[in-house]
Amino acid sequence: MKSFAVANQKGGVAKTTNTINLAGALADRGHDVLAVDADPQGYLTNTLGFRDAYAADPPSLYSLFNSPHEHDADEVILEHAEFDVLPSNVDMFKLEQNLIASGRRPRQRLEDVFDDLGGYDYVFVDAPPSLGPINDNVLLACRNLLIPVEAAESSMLALEHLLNQIESLERDYDVQLREQAVLISNVNYPLDNEQREAIDWFGETFEGRCPVFEIRKRAAIKRTLNNGGSLFSDDAEECDMRAVYEDVAATLVEVADD
Ligand SMILES: Nc1ncnc2c1ncn2[C@@H]1O[C@H](COP(=O)(O)OP(=O)(O)OP(=O)(O)O)[C@@H](O)[C@H]1O
Ligand SMILES: [Mg+2]
Repeated sequence: MKSFAVANQKGGVAKTTNTINLAGALADRGHDVLAVDADPQGYLTNTLGFRDAYAADPPSLYSLFNSPHEHDADEVILEHAEFDVLPSNVDMFKLEQNLIASGRRPRQRLEDVFDDLGGYDYVFVDAPPSLGPINDNVLLACRNLLIPVEAAESSMLALEHLLNQIESLERDYDVQLREQAVLISNVNYPLDNEQREAIDWFGETFEGRCPVFEIRKRAAIKRTLNNGGSLFSDDAEECDMRAVYEDVAATLVEVADD
């Protein structure tokens, strides 16, 4: 099982959109895929049609974090038409509080939840828009990192903070976190100077480190998401960005084969 954190503390940079479309792309290649919604706000969960699970009583993802060996992940995992989903729950706001209180060695670890998952080839975790302890927990569990960014100066600054956080986690926990792809998302042509500079900067910053992909702004992506699925769902609209997600998926499969 190979797991990827789709993470960036900056809000609205297409973490959730990319999580859903990459989960869809890998499932479309015939793999068993799980999408995990680690954002207490539960946008992925709600987008994929699982509003009830988000509001439901325990057991939930929060229960799995809290006592991973008392609950079976299958009690919480739901079936979507394309892939399985481990939904977020409103209780995940409590997890954030618990993790802050427990400091550097939290008892609740997504890694332990992963230990009890069976049968998945790929897991994608939609991380919350904060550099807080849930994000750290997701990065430490997945070790592989996909970084969505926007073609904007604010995204360059945010990325510097994220890279610093990655370095400090590597130091503090003596682990290696690997950036596997940068996804410049929601790119709107024609580009202005700021967008062009940002795209060049991402390319230079990650040269020799990991591939950088460009996913353009497409109304079809938004509409398909609003219909509760990815560009790879049976009733998705035609969209040229599907080919880009296929390229990213092929790259991730190569990483997994390493
Ligand atoms: N390629 C795209 N084309 C069109 N719309 C897009 C594209 N990528 C993202 N969006 C839209 O941009 C908005 C933000 O995307 P998304 O919710 O995936 O970001 P996020 O990083 O998960 O946000 P948050 O930080 O709040 O969790 C959404 O309305 C989404 O539909
Ligand atoms: Mg999101």
